[in-house]
Amino acid sequence: MGSLSFASKSGHAAISALLAFGMVVGCQSQTGGPVARQPNVEIDIQKLDLPGLHNLFRVSDRIFSGSSPEGETGFDSLRQLGVRTIVSVDGARPDVELATRLGMEYVHLPIGYDGISRSRVLELAKLAAARPGPFYVHCHHGLHRGPVAVAVMRLCDDRAWTVTTAELWLQKAGTSPQYPGLIHTPRTLRRPAPEELAAVPDNFPATSMDNDLAAVMVEVDAIWDRLKLVKSAGWAAPPSRPDIDPPHEALQLVEQYREAARLPSAGKHGPTMTRLLADAESATRQLEAELRGKPVVAEKAAAAFTRAAAQCATCHNQFRDRPKAR
Ligand code: HEC
Repeated sequence: MGSLSFASKSGHAAISALLAFGMVVGCQSQTGGPVARQPNVEIDIQKLDLPGLHNLFRVSDRIFSGSSPEGETGFDSLRQLGVRTIVSVDGARPDVELATRLGMEYVHLPIGYDGISRSRVLELAKLAAARPGPFYVHCHHGLHRGPVAVAVMRLCDDRAWTVTTAELWLQKAGTSPQYPGLIHTPRTLRRPAPEELAAVPDNFPATSMDNDLAAVMVEVDAIWDRLKLVKSAGWAAPPSRPDIDPPHEALQLVEQYREAARLPSAGKHGPTMTRLLADAESATRQLEAELRGKPVVAEKAAAAFTRAAAQCATCHNQFRDRPKAR
């Protein structure tokens, strides 16, 4: 063991008490009711600060958690941490070339906001068992999907981790209860049986871009981040980003939605998805029109922005964030 230590004696005591009462240990099959939080348990997980990485935590000797590394600076920071395997669980294409050049392996195991499939759990568990680490596990911001993947790896790899430890970790990482499929993962997880793990191949993909809708959404998100900067700058190009052309950003977003509607993976979701994509497209067209105004009328632009933002939330509530059916 030694990969996890608790900050205080009372932490140890509380964990032992939990075990003594026969509470569920993470990753084992669960027959009892929900596991109570133990307010006395403390976890020894440090927040770190290194350039090019956000929401960076040292979760154990072998696992770091954080955001998608920003450029060469971010990857250099990972190298400083001694990371050998970078694990991306988001939909963006990982920069495998840069990682390889710096002597690190990339593994891409994307997960959704609706929860982690059993096959993905097995792959994460296998990875934790098959590689020496240290690992850096990331999603885009390092807030939701990445920390949950870390919880899965820890729960499957270290019996000292309980559901409570995992939930405290998610709390510390800032994982939102808005994603029940993610936040309930520790409670519903079953630790893989040795035969189950043995059956999982250990040649992990460096990029797995078979989810085209997730890939388009990564673009949508990047454009939306730029539009947020435009909003903060009073509906103009932000001084730090003179390259941003506000109405053109809105137009690009329109085009992404149109492209999304043509994807097979969007069609698979049925007519409501098609309608919501059309709604989002027309709300964004309205935003584009407001941003083309000479001058831009701030209240109208703000109202159009709010409407466009509501489209993200409406569709995600319906198609992205609901827990997977069990
Ligand atoms: C009409 C539906 C719809 C709209 C509108 C929409 N999204 Fe999405 N979004 C989805 C779905 C569905 C997924 C999950 C894709 C998957 O993983 O299969 C998703 C995934 C994402 C992801 C995760 C990508 C990844 O790394 O896996 C981000 C980020 C995102 N959306 C941002 C946005 C933002 C920002 C907006 C608004 C500006 C927006 N989306 C509007 C349906 C939508």
